[in-house]
Amino acid sequence: MNVVLKTQALTKTFHSGNEMFHAVKGVNLQVKSGEFVAIMGPSGSGKSTLLHMLCGLEKATYGSVTIRNVDLSQCDDEELTTLRRDRIGFIFQFFNLIPILTAYENVTLPLLMANHEESRIRERATLLLTQMGLGNHLHKRPHELSGGQQQRVAIARALLPQPLILMADEPTGSLDTKTGMEVLQLLRNVCTDQQHSLVLVTHDPRVASFANRVLFMKDGEIVGEMVDTAQLQDDDFQLPFSTAIQQKWEVLMS
Ligand SMILES: Nc1ncnc2c1ncn2[C@@H]1O[C@H](COP(=O)(O)OP(=O)(O)OP(=O)(O)O)[C@@H](O)[C@H]1O
Ligand SMILES: [Mg+2]
Repeated sequence: MNVVLKTQALTKTFHSGNEMFHAVKGVNLQVKSGEFVAIMGPSGSGKSTLLHMLCGLEKATYGSVTIRNVDLSQCDDEELTTLRRDRIGFIFQFFNLIPILTAYENVTLPLLMANHEESRIRERATLLLTQMGLGNHLHKRPHELSGGQQQRVAIARALLPQPLILMADEPTGSLDTKTGMEVLQLLRNVCTDQQHSLVLVTHDPRVASFANRVLFMKDGEIVGEMVDTAQLQDDDFQLPFSTAIQQKWEVLMS
């Protein structure tokens, strides 16, 4: 089994005054190469805190995160910055594109600034944007693109360094349902066809239904798991898996 990401007893406790708040409590998870894992939980259940620890943006209070063979707690700030730039691809709810740059510049800039080989970056960026259906939009600025197109630019940017793992926090949260589903299908294809791994957090069962495996999070803990054994691929929001997730969710959250 080719494990890309592993956590052990991952815990985050926030202190404010004399109060302690346990946002993430002893999470153990593994993500394999090519696997799309959704972490689903209600608002405040600790999803973003967990994701931020997985990518080294937030330090764990206790426990460990290992990406391939790198233990994040053993990395200094510079090593974490390099790891995040080259090995982890982020996809955010609000795309986080730079407004004055074109789609192509948004995708290439982070690696060009890091002095990666320029001709390879330019070639690969054009290829990725074309694969995302943006071949005719390379030189448009974000405000000239639709929400779905902007998110595809952000996905191309995340994929450019050929990261070990992609992480997404509500990536379709600011898109309409149909566009969101298209973006999710694209992400699913990226995992299936190119063996990328993806950890996505959401509170929406329809979004989670695009994953191979769904982990349910409640009050900082993983309280259940579902695997999409049927690998359903229908267009109707993968309704059977989505319905099964919804039903399990209602039981777990009650
Ligand atoms: N820096 C912080 N200091 C104190 N408490 C925090 C901090 N960051 C998050 N929390 C608390 O930890 C809990 C989990 O927050 P988190 O943002 O991880 O939730 P979430 O599941 O991502 O929610 P949402 O779906 O609304 O984005 C919340 O109760 C939040 O108030
Ligand atoms: Mg969140």
